[in-house]
Amino acid sequence: MQSFPIQLVRSRFPALAGPAAYLDNPGGTQVSQPVVDAVAAAMVGAASNLGGHFKASNDADAIWVRAHDAMAEMLGARSGREVLLGQAMTMLTFHISRSLGRMWAPGDEIIVTRMDHEGNVAPWIRMAEDRGLTVRWLPFNRDTWRIEPADLAPLLNERTRLLALNYASNLTGSINPVAELTRLAKSAGALVYVDGVQSVPHVRADVEALGCDFLACSSYKFFGPHLGVLWGREALLSELVPYAPRCATPVPPGRHELGTPQTELLAGLAASVDYFVWLGEQVGAGGSRPQRIAAAYDAATSYEMPIGQHLIDELRKMPGVTVHGITDAGQQKHRVPTVSITHAQHRSEALAKALGAQGINVWSGHNYAFELARTLGLDENDGVLRIGLAHYNTVAEVDRVIASLKSLLA
Ligand SMILES: Cc1ncc(COP(=O)(O)O)c(C=O)c1O
Repeated sequence: MQSFPIQLVRSRFPALAGPAAYLDNPGGTQVSQPVVDAVAAAMVGAASNLGGHFKASNDADAIWVRAHDAMAEMLGARSGREVLLGQAMTMLTFHISRSLGRMWAPGDEIIVTRMDHEGNVAPWIRMAEDRGLTVRWLPFNRDTWRIEPADLAPLLNERTRLLALNYASNLTGSINPVAELTRLAKSAGALVYVDGVQSVPHVRADVEALGCDFLACSSYKFFGPHLGVLWGREALLSELVPYAPRCATPVPPGRHELGTPQTELLAGLAASVDYFVWLGEQVGAGGSRPQRIAAAYDAATSYEMPIGQHLIDELRKMPGVTVHGITDAGQQKHRVPTVSITHAQHRSEALAKALGAQGINVWSGHNYAFELARTLGLDENDGVLRIGLAHYNTVAEVDRVIASLKSLLA
């Protein structure tokens, strides 16, 4: 494989031409020029509702179809009929949790984790309250930083209806053994809902290979516009009671998508999938679009990993700094380059503010990984200082944040 074309990649993202170092990628990524152009073009040419008998509406219809199909390619789904698009992952999860809850009865059980973002916890807890279900909490292992199948097994029984878990943590960056955990949960008869928000920017999600029933993600974390995406098995999406207007289409995905779609953002979403295809081509891949997307992921991961390890190694050398997550270079394949730290004397928010003032964008707080922050015994509000890389970051940017931190901590 040829070397990663970092300068070409960066030139694709207008925001990266500015002075800021974008190390806030787990919170949201920048978009490439073609995404900006696609959004603008849709606002000019397809600012119309769907299903009309004129060109702008026909173009909006085409954008709608294309966005669903592109996401199916991205996630390894069978077709765009399995893809729901909406405002955000949290909204989609709250929404579909109502439909799922309709299948279950008091005394049934669901499992949520102490590692997940609230977007994959709160919807299930609220649904359980509404339906009289029992909530079981799955811990993560403090040594491996991931959810171990051995901890899931004792929670499963014939009343387990759902396992909701994340693919990668937005705080520690650890990647869970999702396929294995899914197999275990499904052998007990449960459905599996995967939060892929933090994995999809770094790890190719092949929903068929994972074997799960749902996988949610957010396109603003993978170089696209502010949208949520939910893949679900077509049979399930067809059967679930839709929380939708009575005259809505009876077939998925439309039967679970409410209101007029954000056509311009859907155009940007398809363009963000095209970006992965483009990146695959730049690193020498041919073949089908999914093959090019897969090559883009491989190249981006190979490029990101050493930079992420460099960041971790430098942070660990700083007196008073604790890295919350996998630090061992040999375990890099079990994490994404999202690195959270605390300092013995300095508050995370103060550090984030000071770095922000220098044009270094990072995040502080619990980042909605509420249970995780509690389990680690962190200050619930101040949480961690989170530095999260994407494939458009450079070693120079990592060295910049390290140098700034050194002088702030001195
Ligand atoms: C792991 C994880 N899940 C869910 C969400 C929520 O995504 P959205 O903003 O699309 O609701 C986030 C957002 O940061 C996240 O990091």
